[in-house]
Amino acid sequence: MTTYKFPHNFLWGAATASYQIEGAWNEDGKGESIWDRFSHTSGNVANGDTGDVACDHYHRYEDDIALMRRLGLKAYRFSVSWPRVIPNGRGKVNLNGLDFYDRLVDSLCAANLEPFLTLYHWDLPQALQDQGGWENRDTAYAFADYAALMVKRLGDRVKSWATFNEPAVIAFVGNLYGAHAPGFKDQGIAYRVAHNVMVAHGLGVQAIRNANSSLKAGIVLNLWPFEPETDSPKDAAAAEAIWKESETHFLEPIFNGYYSPEAYEKAEQHLTTFKDGDMALIAQELDFWGVNFYSRHVISGEGKFVKVPGSEYSEMDWEVCAPSLRRLLVRLYQDYKLPPLYITENGSAFQDEVSADGKIHDPRRLDYLKQHLIHTRLAMLDGVDVRGYFAWSLLDNFEWAYGYTKRFGLVHVDYETQKRTVKDSGKWYAQVIWSNEVKE
Ligand code: FCB
Repeated sequence: MTTYKFPHNFLWGAATASYQIEGAWNEDGKGESIWDRFSHTSGNVANGDTGDVACDHYHRYEDDIALMRRLGLKAYRFSVSWPRVIPNGRGKVNLNGLDFYDRLVDSLCAANLEPFLTLYHWDLPQALQDQGGWENRDTAYAFADYAALMVKRLGDRVKSWATFNEPAVIAFVGNLYGAHAPGFKDQGIAYRVAHNVMVAHGLGVQAIRNANSSLKAGIVLNLWPFEPETDSPKDAAAAEAIWKESETHFLEPIFNGYYSPEAYEKAEQHLTTFKDGDMALIAQELDFWGVNFYSRHVISGEGKFVKVPGSEYSEMDWEVCAPSLRRLLVRLYQDYKLPPLYITENGSAFQDEVSADGKIHDPRRLDYLKQHLIHTRLAMLDGVDVRGYFAWSLLDNFEWAYGYTKRFGLVHVDYETQKRTVKDSGKWYAQVIWSNEVKE
């Protein structure tokens, strides 16, 4: 048996996002978000599911924090619903909304859990979407004001602030593929959104620091490595070309201050709101960054996505391949000058069943987490500066266009009764945290 010991100050956590768990979609003065609008429009989400109630976390956050304590978590990553605190996106503040996050943060601190806050995990105020959403550059300035408001209220207790979760998904899944809110299928919009979100990130980091210079500011990116099907040079070249075209779209501007030639060639004609100084604004120095890792893509010499015979695939049809995580991290730290890293999301959806004994035996999820933690540790031994790990997710929750059909939680949620049950993987994770090591 091999034992993988983690450094004593390694930050063990779990992550969620506001729209996926909170519910209370129209309570206490909250404004409508683009996800409220999108899920209320039929045909957008599996089974017509919505986040109206979700895990009812808005009302049950105390119980959920008690669960976090049971798991022994050291940190909790959550996001703020912008329209809950500023219903129209700019202007009038909803004090009830601010009070909710204030109580949440107080309870986290009382339970000795470090709050990791994400300002934007996809629930844009609908009122801003009505004025063009992220395609309108003004949204970036509204975002900076919202960031400043949140820092003023919570900056005395929340030290780690991420501006955005997964800009690539915001821009392309929401505006090119149409699978997420606001549901557009338009290349021009997608590229302008990508750019304006990065501008908003830069402005947001400045706003966070201006409001409180002692805070740590960062961003969370989703990265899917593209790996060749075989070790032939043709396959390697095809995989590398796709990596350059897609994954560097955000990496290069944020960490190097320019678009890669491959990304710029495609984006340039659409960047009608580009201003001098944007690239410097986008490339703010960061205190940390987050990587959300789930899987990899395997690419044939013809540039096609292929499935790997014999490999395990999850309910999302994502390949389970933990060594790719290690390779990805090592590569990133070779290619870029990067700040310390947190794995801000990692996890897997499998079909869970509640057994006759009332327990949820989920060996495949447990093994997924184990393998990814081992490869995180191996990347650290290779020299990658990983400071912590957040499992996705604390709870089963609303999985965007898939509604409630995909369960990622360490904790099972019965959506009829809102009963929470810690799965075997959650119990195992608690043991890992307690012992600060993974055994294989
Ligand atoms: C990520 C999202 C997160 C969750 C997981 C499965 O892309 O950030 O909200 O949906 O995928």
